[in-house]
Amino acid sequence: MQERLEEIRTHSLESIESASSEEDLENIRVRVLGRKGELTTVLKAIGKLSAEERPKIGQLANKLKKKIEASINARKEALKGVHISGQGPTPDGSFKATTDFFIPGLDPTLPGRQRRLGRLHPITQVMDEICSVFERMGFTVAHGPEVELDFYNFEALNIPPDHPARDMQDTFYIDDKVLLRTHTSPVQIHAMERHRPPMRVIAPGKVYRCDSDITHTPMFHQVEGLMVDRDVSFAGLKGVLTAFVQQIFDPDTLVRFRPSFFPFTEPSAEIDIQCVICKGKGCRICSHTGWLEVLGAGMVHPEVFRHVGYDTEEFSGFAFGLGVERIAMLRFGIDDIRLFYDNDLRFLHQF
Ligand code: PHE
Repeated sequence: MQERLEEIRTHSLESIESASSEEDLENIRVRVLGRKGELTTVLKAIGKLSAEERPKIGQLANKLKKKIEASINARKEALKGVHISGQGPTPDGSFKATTDFFIPGLDPTLPGRQRRLGRLHPITQVMDEICSVFERMGFTVAHGPEVELDFYNFEALNIPPDHPARDMQDTFYIDDKVLLRTHTSPVQIHAMERHRPPMRVIAPGKVYRCDSDITHTPMFHQVEGLMVDRDVSFAGLKGVLTAFVQQIFDPDTLVRFRPSFFPFTEPSAEIDIQCVICKGKGCRICSHTGWLEVLGAGMVHPEVFRHVGYDTEEFSGFAFGLGVERIAMLRFGIDDIRLFYDNDLRFLHQF
């Protein structure tokens, strides 16, 4: 009797597994569990067994019955699907014939798979926006190499080999002549080597410094600006940068020009804007000064013009440089620069 049960178990489970329609399953159910079914017959015969065999076989048979019922139900679920009728191509090339497809396992009520749209990185967005503000003022975009010669990054910008200003920038050297540019200012030199004045260029791009904390990453972005012509003045510089700041931030943002030093500009200035967080009242972001530094700038140093062969009597110019991440952080109210480079979609999808 026990052997018979084993037989029923093996062949019925196999045929359930290979059933390909609900009809197949119903036939199997009738054959095994129906009134005259294989298992039903065994169950009926149990009464004739000896008193000691009866409970043992009874238990086994009942367990098997449950198992088979469960397998049939599971298979039924797996076979659920939908009939889809569609128009298929006919041999004569028209699309008339209606075909009925059965797609097992398809549950058309389930929600579809979400496809997220890609978008520009917030830094790219801000950099594009900065460039377009200057393009509207007549500047054109120039690019230079990120792997740079010492000459372009330092020497031609009036930063000789043992100038203390080299310590301000933690340079990644490749060898003693080649390095990763520490700012976009070398593009000024490339542009002036290639063109004669008048010129108005901006140079967006990546720069590298050996520095890392919540406001510094070893790679970040700058936008450089250079304007050279006859009679370019500091007043022109103030006008251009004030217009820039008021287009990127609020139109009535206050701007402050503070004397500063760069080897390649003279006079030099750092440009502050009224704190966008506290509106000048003083807060943690502006270290309670009410002001935020956003740009470095100045009148091109005659020594720089001499390196590219420009006549310092005839031409004058101004240059400026800004950090894109810093502007983006102020614009979006982000207090940790590293968020830009963690590639966390929960962060990136907010822009
Ligand atoms: N290159 C300077 C820096 O990285 C910024 C700057 C550019 C200052 C042009 C003056 C003129 O800090």
